[in-house]
Amino acid sequence: MGTFIKSGDELIQFLILIILILTAIVLLFIVLNMYNVIYRIIGEKEGKTIERFSFKKWWERESGTDVPVEKEETILLHHNYDGIQELDNHLPPWWVKMFYATIAFSVIYLGLYHVWNITPLQDEEYQIAMDEAKKEVELYQSKMANTIDEKTVKLLVDDSKTVSSGKDIYIAKCVACHGQAGEGGVGPNLTDEYWLHGGSINDIFKTIKYGVPEKGMIAWQATMKPNEIQSVSNYILSIKGTNPANAKAPQGEKFTEGTDSTAAKPVENL
Ligand code: HEC
Repeated sequence: MGTFIKSGDELIQFLILIILILTAIVLLFIVLNMYNVIYRIIGEKEGKTIERFSFKKWWERESGTDVPVEKEETILLHHNYDGIQELDNHLPPWWVKMFYATIAFSVIYLGLYHVWNITPLQDEEYQIAMDEAKKEVELYQSKMANTIDEKTVKLLVDDSKTVSSGKDIYIAKCVACHGQAGEGGVGPNLTDEYWLHGGSINDIFKTIKYGVPEKGMIAWQATMKPNEIQSVSNYILSIKGTNPANAKAPQGEKFTEGTDSTAAKPVENL
């Protein structure tokens, strides 16, 4: 669907509008026919011929009576500019009616938009549309956030927003065991190249999500949303190689980029 019709709802609204317009046209014909029938009956009763409604006659009436060329003298205005003269023709009735209709429309428009403020102006409409879009984006993101798992987690170490929100989570929940700078404590050093449970983004996500309960690492899936686990996993990878003071000795196996715990081990570890 194009830019005009954006959703199924709008398509239905559009179809309803078309059906309404068609119904209105059909009703108009029915009413005109009834008018003709009723007037014929009344006419017959009273012995008069009452003019039937016809579009042709109606249009002749609306388009006005042009003064025939022979009688133009009667409507010729008196001024004369180098031989150019003006006829005082009447405006066609349909035109005059449209003109009054535009005046009526402008009054209604002014009232709706500027006096009673019933309908939103362009700026407000823009704001309303933006607010709706924002809600849709939030809904989409929260849906997406909950679908992140150890297979779909993304490496976003270069995304400062992800890393900084990951850092906030780390400071709040992980410092007690892994140290202020990830140097390690009760838990292992998270800044070196050695990992007990693998050092890929997928491995780290998995360790944080399910924990290692028997060794004292909490399973965070009950208290953290998947996108929060993703953020803190990326924060951990962002502090790799920072060599903090009082670093805990390496534990586990050296992890080389491009491998994970389920892949073949690097040659140096064989
Ligand atoms: C109560 C202490 C404690 C807390 C709090 C804690 N951890 Fe751990 N963490 C550990 C321990 C202990 C291990 C080592 C588990 C093992 O020996 O298998 C560990 C292991 C890890 C590992 C795997 C390291 C490796 O070498 O494979 C990661 C990653 C990790 N934690 C991240 C976190 C994050 C992120 C948080 C905060 C959300 C956190 N931990 C909070 C105790 C903790």
